Amino acid sequence: MVKVDVHINYVHAQWSSRWVFVLAATGSAVGLGNIWKFPYMVGQGGGGAFVLVYLVCVVLIGIPIMMSEVLLGRRARRSPVNTMRILAHDEGASPAWQFVGWLGMATGFLILSFYSVVAGWTLAYVFRTAGGVFALQNPERIKALFGVFVTDPHTVLAWHTLFMVMTTIIVARGVQAGLEKAVKFMMPVLFILLLALVFYSMGSGGFDAAFKFLFKTDFSKLTPVVILGAMGQAFFSLSLGMGAILIYGSYLPQQSSIAGSTIMIVSADTVVALLAGLAVFPIVFANGLEPASGPSLIFETLPIAFGQMPGGVFWGTLFFVLLVFAAWTSAISLIEPAVAWLTETRGLGRMLSAVLTGGFAWLLGILTIMSFSDWAFSFRFLGVAKTNGFFDIFDLVTTNITLPLGGILIALFAGWKIQREHSREELQLRSHAGFQIWLFVTRFVSPVLVGMLLLYLLFGQYFNA
Ligand code: PHE
Repeated sequence: MVKVDVHINYVHAQWSSRWVFVLAATGSAVGLGNIWKFPYMVGQGGGGAFVLVYLVCVVLIGIPIMMSEVLLGRRARRSPVNTMRILAHDEGASPAWQFVGWLGMATGFLILSFYSVVAGWTLAYVFRTAGGVFALQNPERIKALFGVFVTDPHTVLAWHTLFMVMTTIIVARGVQAGLEKAVKFMMPVLFILLLALVFYSMGSGGFDAAFKFLFKTDFSKLTPVVILGAMGQAFFSLSLGMGAILIYGSYLPQQSSIAGSTIMIVSADTVVALLAGLAVFPIVFANGLEPASGPSLIFETLPIAFGQMPGGVFWGTLFFVLLVFAAWTSAISLIEPAVAWLTETRGLGRMLSAVLTGGFAWLLGILTIMSFSDWAFSFRFLGVAKTNGFFDIFDLVTTNITLPLGGILIALFAGWKIQREHSREELQLRSHAGFQIWLFVTRFVSPVLVGMLLLYLLFGQYFNA
């Protein structure tokens, strides 16, 4: 029998500094998940109860698992599949752990497929806002405009294609080439613009209602479905559980603090999500809109604000441009694990790997377009009646199942399979207590919390029949 050498000699590039890693990982985390998805999930989850559970999940699950992903990636310096393979080999664990890497790659494709469609909507809204389409339109008309747009498969397909081409080009060039510079500029501007939008919203008359909605916890709304959704959203928003952060961590220079970087990334992501909520909900309440309207929420609310404010064409256009950039820096991290794997083990160049992976995600994306267009069909899934077909299936399966499952396995592997001396050496935490806390949370707290929720998801129907 031929002994397979698990140590692949391919050497990847590294970030030029720790700051570039923090920036890239923040670019991955901050995206449509914060500005498009977080507000509509809060709206559907009943407000404050969802926000509270979300914040608890970010701290108790997000931080330790992000540290674990970076730790694993930096130790092996390979794609997620090969990182799990090499580390399992070195630590005497089963080679089956590489399943985590495969699951992550599959998840990345599924997410990117619908992510790119929504990013395509955002691209389209750049041009519509710039063209003054929303100036002084009433809320019903703005809502109707979105409805007409999203149900036209040909137009949406064109924007989806454009976004996927943009993503593929950046991935093919390697992350360092241009995106790093763009992100350095775009991220701060997006942040400032969000703050400005919050200020605008404060004057819209709906701010008090929005603030209460977001931060007043009505515990009667705390159903298992809401808790599950908030946990899934924490994984999605922090890019955890599928290897995106792992692969970025594998390009991290050796002498960089993992804990410090993690805290910065997580804080930035959380602040952006909360600001998005504070920008969107005042507009919802001031205009008598429906907070639970779903994926269309920001495309119905923000154009109202831009349509009314002075200079709205300019600010609105800028906002959607920045949102495209936020989506772009997330999209590249969704296929980077697969691209790294193809270059390592199949010896393909980055160009070909990027075209193959981007092309595959593009094809899958057509299913999401069909979900919103005339070919939509009804589907009952996980006890939730939905009408958006594949979009909802892909979204629910990744956000609520495969990301948390990947996350739990990463935590278990980092906590139980990696020898303590090794994880301590990699994390380089200054205090002993800090390391003990990480180990305890990673071994017990996060896996138990996520495990309970996943079990509820699978078997919950038997409890409350
Ligand atoms: N975190 C990204 C967002 O919030 C989405 C994402 C999920 C990116 C998983 C990579 C991996 O938009």
